[in-house]
Amino acid sequence: MSTPGRPECEFRSAQHGGCLMSAVLDADARYLRYPSALIDRLALPDGRRVVVRPVLGDDALATQDFVRGLSLDSRRNRFHIALKELPPATLRQLTDVDHVGHVAIVAETLADDKHEAAIVAEARYVREGGDTHFAIAVADAWQGMGLGRALMQRLLRYAARHGVVRLVADIADGNTAMLRLALSFGGRVAASSPHGPGVTRVVLHLAPPAATRQPASPSARVPRVCLNPPSRRQR
Ligand SMILES: CC(C)(COP(=O)(O)OP(=O)(O)OC[C@H]1O[C@@H](n2cnc3c(N)ncnc32)[C@H](O)[C@@H]1OP(=O)(O)O)[C@@H](O)C(=O)NCCC(=O)NCCS
Repeated sequence: MSTPGRPECEFRSAQHGGCLMSAVLDADARYLRYPSALIDRLALPDGRRVVVRPVLGDDALATQDFVRGLSLDSRRNRFHIALKELPPATLRQLTDVDHVGHVAIVAETLADDKHEAAIVAEARYVREGGDTHFAIAVADAWQGMGLGRALMQRLLRYAARHGVVRLVADIADGNTAMLRLALSFGGRVAASSPHGPGVTRVVLHLAPPAATRQPASPSARVPRVCLNPPSRRQR
């Protein structure tokens, strides 16, 4: 069946039952939206190095390996349920992102003669239902080295630059590390959580990029994430 307003497609894929041409155009659009500004290299205090980059569609296997490798506690803190690995649909959702409503970055080790590259952390925000949700996870052996903070910093800066003014993180009770991390970025504990007891919602307000407010000084052109709680900013 043709879609009103769209030319009839001449290229159909038997496997996907869809139009190959529109699949190619979708892939092109995604490629053009790929937020390469998020690509970076990081060196941890112990000398380990990672590449930070937006997630790709073909990161599914590496993402599954990453999730399987997390400790039970880390998996529960990240996904709020005790899963061993991600169901295929969730895996696809986490890796097949549009880079607009859903922006995700991973930290990946560098491949060498002995080791393949591996994902050791991921962070993302997803705009849904009027809220923008933030989530992050760092492989256990990489925790406590500043990687979580570095990813969060980059993602929040990117979010602010792209019009996100408010983010929420739903944090399982007892997850002190994430709570502290979120509060250290100016997050505030919400009065109630839509998920009920056992989960704390932290709300982060982001300042718009400084360039749009104060174009005068060179430093004002650098977008930054506001670290002040909104109550202070309103004064
Ligand atoms: C929460 C998490 C992402 C933090 O990442 P990380 O790389 O270990 O954190 P960092 O080393 O960057 O530390 C950042 C801050 O987190 C807090 N923090 C980290 N580890 C902590 C710990 N064991 N206890 C208390 N606070 C801790 C501190 O405030 C720290 O800042 P500081 O070093 O300036 O004091 C990581 O612990 C993790 O992946 N946990 C499992 C998954 C999860 O809980 N995800 C959150 C879902 S919303």
